[in-house]
Amino acid sequence: MQTPEVRDIARLERTGAHSHIHGLGLDEKLQPVGNFQGMVGQAKARRAAGLLVKLVQDGKIAGRAILMAGGPGTGKTAIAMGMTQELGKDVPFTMMAASELFSLEMSKTEALTQAFRRSIGVRIKEETELIQGEVVEIQIDRSVTGVAAKSGKLTMKTTDMETIYDLGQKMIDALSKEKVVAGDVITIDKASGRITKLGRSFTRARDYDATGPEVKFVQCPEGELQVRKEVVHTVSLHEIDVINSRTQGFLALFSGDTGEIKPEVREQINTKVGEWREEGKAEMVPGVLFIDEVHMLDMECFSFLNRALEDQLAPIVIMASNRGMTRIRGTKYKSAHGIPADFLDRLHIISTSSYSEPEIKEILKIRCTEEDVDMAPDALEVLTKIGTETSLRYAIHLITTGSLVAQKRQATAVDVSDIKRAYSLFLDEKRSVQYLREYQDQYLYNEAEQAPPAASASSPVPMDM
Ligand SMILES: Nc1ncnc2c1ncn2[C@@H]1O[C@H](COP(=O)(O)OP(=O)(O)OP(=O)(O)O)[C@@H](O)[C@H]1O
Ligand SMILES: [Mg+2]
Repeated sequence: MQTPEVRDIARLERTGAHSHIHGLGLDEKLQPVGNFQGMVGQAKARRAAGLLVKLVQDGKIAGRAILMAGGPGTGKTAIAMGMTQELGKDVPFTMMAASELFSLEMSKTEALTQAFRRSIGVRIKEETELIQGEVVEIQIDRSVTGVAAKSGKLTMKTTDMETIYDLGQKMIDALSKEKVVAGDVITIDKASGRITKLGRSFTRARDYDATGPEVKFVQCPEGELQVRKEVVHTVSLHEIDVINSRTQGFLALFSGDTGEIKPEVREQINTKVGEWREEGKAEMVPGVLFIDEVHMLDMECFSFLNRALEDQLAPIVIMASNRGMTRIRGTKYKSAHGIPADFLDRLHIISTSSYSEPEIKEILKIRCTEEDVDMAPDALEVLTKIGTETSLRYAIHLITTGSLVAQKRQATAVDVSDIKRAYSLFLDEKRSVQYLREYQDQYLYNEAEQAPPAASASSPVPMDM
């Protein structure tokens, strides 16, 4: 039987808005280091974020909510990305934008519940049986016709014993895929049949004079061939919910189309996980739920959050908003960040402030490296100036467009003229508003024209309805 070849998928190189962020850039004492892991400035917020990460890792904090408040482009989302990286793979981190809740085919509270449960991990300990030893011989019997399934024998040893195992088709394929030969030290997971190569046995070192430098030599294992190993893996409560809800089944995990999950299923899971905890089989790992643009939530969501945060199984919720005093969605009341006062009272607030000129320059420099753009020093100077006068985001965008302009004239480095050209091609926010004011009569649905001037000045058109 021909098994299709499995090829590794080439990694897609992509630079996103935050791909230069590799952590929070803190030292062991949680002090921010100047320019480290792609992070610049914003020292106080980074330190606060670092402290939170530490508390989460120690499992000391859950059911708390934090608000990151600050103007646009002050690094709120960037700091959240840094936190994900610091937390590591084992701690669940869910990121969502508040507006997502309004475009799903399920109720807002269900979507929030799912997000909450996605952010709580269950660390499950399991014992597996492994066969661990040095391969003495692999013998494969091929049938004459070549049609029937193959069979064979595998001889493995430790320093103390030697055993012969029967091989089926699946194991033969696995062995040849891993290119296992006599003299290799391997482990075989008895349950899954997965083979891991640990290296070549020292006793065989002399047989191969011509081995490359990448070959690792290891000792032949001692003792029994069969060993028990404890493996730990972390899944989220949401994953357990989906797998156990009969209507969805685990395939829903791949499509993401999980639909609503019945409360009874969740209750059963909570009880089960509680039992595992008592038996010492599982441990809870409260993770982080990050809700960006939190001013897009409405009263229903806030009151749900109020309640959900008091639950025994609650993650830490981090929110971000760039709004000042604004209307709470769906009401006529105004409140700071568009968050109701009672909910605001429960939050720990971290504020981010705008960047200084040297910090902007540093961030732009990092972005140039990230995007593989060679920027002339005086061009960087001009770009920094643009960054301070318009916005950091606009300046970051000019790196990409500027480098395209430079490519067009077949230059390798971006110089001042390229930045100038990109600047004239793409408007920043201020110039765009200015342009609209000048040419408003050429646009459709031009409300500013009809509205009486006094009213339009005092009540700007609400954008976030
Ligand atoms: N301290 C920093 N160090 C390095 N890069 C940063 C820093 N702060 C912001 N950036 C980068 O600047 C850009 C804008 O920042 P970010 O998106 O985090 O702003 P924000 O506060 O979330 O803004 P908004 O309120 O508009 O969502 C991003 O590309 C981000 O990675
Ligand atoms: Mg943001």
